[in-house]
Amino acid sequence: MKTSRSRITKFQDIESTQKQAHLYIKEGKATDGMILISETQTGGIGRLDRDWSSPKGGLWMSIITHRSIPLEFFQGFSVRIGLALSKVLEEFIQIPIKVKWPNDLILNGKKVGGILVDISSQDEFLHYLVLGIGINVNVKLDCLPDEVRKIATSINCETQKEHPIEKILDLLISVYDQIIDDLEIGVTLDLSDNWVKRSHTYNSNITVKTANQIIEGIEVGLTSNGELIIKTTDGEHKISIGEIEQIRKA
Ligand code: BTN
Repeated sequence: MKTSRSRITKFQDIESTQKQAHLYIKEGKATDGMILISETQTGGIGRLDRDWSSPKGGLWMSIITHRSIPLEFFQGFSVRIGLALSKVLEEFIQIPIKVKWPNDLILNGKKVGGILVDISSQDEFLHYLVLGIGINVNVKLDCLPDEVRKIATSINCETQKEHPIEKILDLLISVYDQIIDDLEIGVTLDLSDNWVKRSHTYNSNITVKTANQIIEGIEVGLTSNGELIIKTTDGEHKISIGEIEQIRKA
């Protein structure tokens, strides 16, 4: 793998690094390990097709992985990335960064970052993966829309300090590369212990919305594959795709 700097394409203002990464793939211009970063995005996208506000001061990036790795190794991938990122960010601040399933990064109870994973496969092997990462590092809160400000924060706002985006980026890239190298040789991790330590909602009453139901119960853990385990009045449920909508501390 090339050094991180030579893999980076920087933009000042782009619609979305994620969309640009997909365009490069379509045009045959994408290479394994390519990283796209932009100072601002005019049309940043989040999970579930939501808008993602991307003013100056944030880390807005997409990494392209183009390797033939068995798809089964990617079970729980987005949770694994979320956990790894929370650890990276904690190296820069003295406040715990928590995770909210599946992969929101939480600082002092508010969302400080998010992850978008787009995977395309061929015959049970990875074809392309585009990992979008958005972190409100030095974003000033008044640059975010009102409705976002109610639920989101930035590292700068919570610590009253500017943080070195370039250093965060370097560490994040090396952690990501290690995860991909591990996956290539089939090293998967049991995420459950790490989850209990880092989950913002562990042992809380939560409401989770899935494609076809709403489940209320207590978050009691995570399976080794990254499924959320909720205990309800009729037993334990494992959820692989969904969104936590409400949290009421138990
Ligand atoms: C989420 O909804 O929590 C995921 C947010 C992911 C945002 C990042 S910012 C860089 C990349 N480009 C985008 O348009 N989205 C992702």
